[in-house]
Amino acid sequence: MSRLATKVAIVTGAASGIGLGIAQLFVKQGAKVVFSDINTSGKAAADSAGKNAIFIECDISNTESVE
Ligand SMILES: NC(=O)c1ccc[n+]([C@@H]2O[C@H](COP(=O)([O-])OP(=O)(O)OC[C@H]3O[C@@H](n4cnc5c(N)ncnc54)[C@H](O)[C@@H]3O)[C@@H](O)[C@H]2O)c1
Repeated sequence: MSRLATKVAIVTGAASGIGLGIAQLFVKQGAKVVFSDINTSGKAAADSAGKNAIFIECDISNTESVE
């Protein structure tokens, strides 16, 4: 699938649950995806999603962290 081949997505809360499912699906559909989460277990999820996925640690409730 390459429906999202020209897209870049940043998914917050991507270490588990709904965010993880969305991030994995976007990679499968061809997007380059930033898996972002306060929980660093998201790094393993991004690593196993392949070369179009990276992990960036971020607390979305903290302006400094988001910047
Ligand atoms: N699972 C459902 O069926 C369902 C249904 C309706 C609504 N929701 C809501 O959707 C949201 C996500 O649900 P889920 O089941 O995927 O939960 P989850 O706990 O599996 O995933 C939430 C993710 O967000 C991350 N997170 C939490 N605080 C964060 C922060 N400050 N910065 C960055 N990342 C942070 C957590 O580390 C976790 O990886 C929740 O608010 C939940 O109440 C879930």
